[in-house]
Amino acid sequence: MQCITDIKALRELLKQWRSAGESIAFVPTMGNLHAGHLQLVNRAKAQADRVVVSIFVNPTQFGVGEDFSLYPRTEQADQEKLQAAAVDVVFMPSTEAMYPVNELTKVSVSEVSESHCGAARPGHFDGVATVVCKLFNIVQPDKAFFGEKDFQQLTVINAMVADLNLPVVIISVPTVRESNGLAMSSRNGYLTAQQREQASQLYQCLCAAKRLIQAKQLSYVDIEKLQIKFLTEQGFRVDYFSICRRSDLQAAEHEDAEIVILVAARIGKTRLIDNVQLDIKN
Ligand code: PAF
Repeated sequence: MQCITDIKALRELLKQWRSAGESIAFVPTMGNLHAGHLQLVNRAKAQADRVVVSIFVNPTQFGVGEDFSLYPRTEQADQEKLQAAAVDVVFMPSTEAMYPVNELTKVSVSEVSESHCGAARPGHFDGVATVVCKLFNIVQPDKAFFGEKDFQQLTVINAMVADLNLPVVIISVPTVRESNGLAMSSRNGYLTAQQREQASQLYQCLCAAKRLIQAKQLSYVDIEKLQIKFLTEQGFRVDYFSICRRSDLQAAEHEDAEIVILVAARIGKTRLIDNVQLDIKN
């Protein structure tokens, strides 16, 4: 595995692979790799000749007062995991390499960026879309792999790729969970053992809401209210618990078939997100 920090050096190597007819898969990450990331890497390996993983804690997707400076940086351990997973290249650019001047351009995806995490974290998805667009332009992968845990991020990236005709296929990969159901996330590292147990209630609530939807007894608004009340009683500060249409993340109507239930809630200072999908057969 090669570890490359320089954009030009990466491009040189990618050019050689491409001219040898090899396909390239890309997994963008912010490091602190866990089983969820390694699942993305395994999918990527199965679908291309070469796999590039980036590790870059992107400052522009963190708001003022968020955890940019605290965000876990575990480069040595990450590199060992990627080496063991037989990744071809880990790309670890510096902030100066990614943002050398005072950029005048950003990528902003309207509508799907504005609700949910976008409302709670203004500017977050502009930061994500811009850095992902830059990384796509640097790597020019055939396929790029993203986890479904960040469902809204996936929606934003799919819209950006479609709207800007970016020549990359986006592959979404189901969420990997701990044995208690908690979705794997780098931010789980902020939780105490007791909070980790408590955090598993997020997934339990999502599953309970899914069953209530399937039972067709309560309105979606009532199901949302019930889960918010339960989570609040369990000590969470709920940002949102929303039953949405998968296509545009607007509030789902009863005739919508493709649903995603999205939740964001805090335990102490840690903000966690999760979701489940369901298809309704009318
Ligand atoms: O999901 C993440 O880790 C980040 O948002 C991403 C896609 C690597 C962009 O910085």
